[in-house]
Amino acid sequence: MDLFEYQARDLFESHGVPVLMGAVATTAEEAEIAAAKMGGRVVVKAQVKVGGRGKAGGVKLAEDAKDARQKAQGILGMDIKGHTVHQVMIAQAAPIEAEYYLAILLDRANRSFLVMASISGGMDIEQVAHETPEKLARVNIDAHTGLNLTRALEIVKAGGFPDEIASEVADVLMKLWDVFKAEDATLVEVNPLVKTSDGKIIALDGKVTLDESAAFRHPDHEALIDHAATDPLEAQAKEKNLNYVKLDGEVGIIGNGAGLVMSTLDVVAYAGEKFGGVKPANFLDIGGGASAQVMADGLSIILGDPAVKSVFVNVFGGITACDAVANGIVQALEILGASAKKPIVVRLDGNNVIEGRRILAEAAHPLVEQVETMDGAASRAAELAAK
Ligand SMILES: Nc1ncnc2c1ncn2[C@@H]1O[C@H](COP(=O)(O)OP(=O)(O)OP(=O)(O)O)[C@@H](O)[C@H]1O
Ligand SMILES: [Mg+2]
Repeated sequence: MDLFEYQARDLFESHGVPVLMGAVATTAEEAEIAAAKMGGRVVVKAQVKVGGRGKAGGVKLAEDAKDARQKAQGILGMDIKGHTVHQVMIAQAAPIEAEYYLAILLDRANRSFLVMASISGGMDIEQVAHETPEKLARVNIDAHTGLNLTRALEIVKAGGFPDEIASEVADVLMKLWDVFKAEDATLVEVNPLVKTSDGKIIALDGKVTLDESAAFRHPDHEALIDHAATDPLEAQAKEKNLNYVKLDGEVGIIGNGAGLVMSTLDVVAYAGEKFGGVKPANFLDIGGGASAQVMADGLSIILGDPAVKSVFVNVFGGITACDAVANGIVQALEILGASAKKPIVVRLDGNNVIEGRRILAEAAHPLVEQVETMDGAASRAAELAAK
């Protein structure tokens, strides 16, 4: 889960990372009030979960509260790379002398964490990384040992920070490490970290991504969820504990086991090419012990997606045998009743397949069609979706 900048700022503050005062506003009036409380010059910043806000005109300096109101008026409602601005953050304006860069992220490929540091921070950091990679120190941190102050100092030196601020920056890096570790983040980025004209080191912008798989350890992270932006079907699926991801095709997919579902997506996309480019509409893994209720929950979410034209249920019976799954499908359709309206192609294979197929054939539900092979079923589901 990506956080808004103001949420990252709050999280930083709670871990002792030096930040400036900041307040979030959803209207120009609120922006003016917040700016008046802070006094002096402020910066009005678009709160959207996308980089490059400054370059898009979403970060503006305001001389006073009245000016902040006007700047907020201009920024609210703006579109930045497809994201509409619904909120702005009013932040104290810092007298910037230099802009630096610090980041900690999960490095999946190397199975470790990666710390990056550079004195060439600011809005052109991507260009710096691309054209002069030697200006960006990149140091891998072993997950077992973690970061310590000695190592943090080395990284800061490698990033080119001058001696007189090295220990202060290393201290900030340690606090960012604390945010990263304690909050179970996969990304903590500060760009820019600034040195002000009075010699202070401050995090002016923050980007944080939290690991949703660790949500159970952080009940307080619940409050950070942007419910307005969550896909309603994904939200429903989450409530029912289903592993569902909305995609933009027309064939609803249900399978048991993440691997099988992933390959089902591929097979459907491939089969769909013959039918005008029909694609899978979602990922949904109902897992091992697929009860009738789980099947009904899954089907009801998929059938509730207006983009779905047909459904492909692809199950390989293992510990949960095909007869149990077939009974689950039959009962699920009873539970759903008239709300189920779209054709459902079922492919059963594996443990107790003969009995499973018999149960479905005997139930003879008008929406259900059985196809014995995965390729054949994918093709049939794609064909039905294209009709
Ligand atoms: N509080 C502040 N006081 C003074 N200047 C600021 C302040 N906040 C941001 N700026 C200036 O605006 C620039 C852009 O701001 P910021 O980095 O927050 O947004 P951004 O362009 O979206 O960054 P990113 O692409 O990293 O998301 C900064 O590099 C800095 O020069
Ligand atoms: Mg930035």
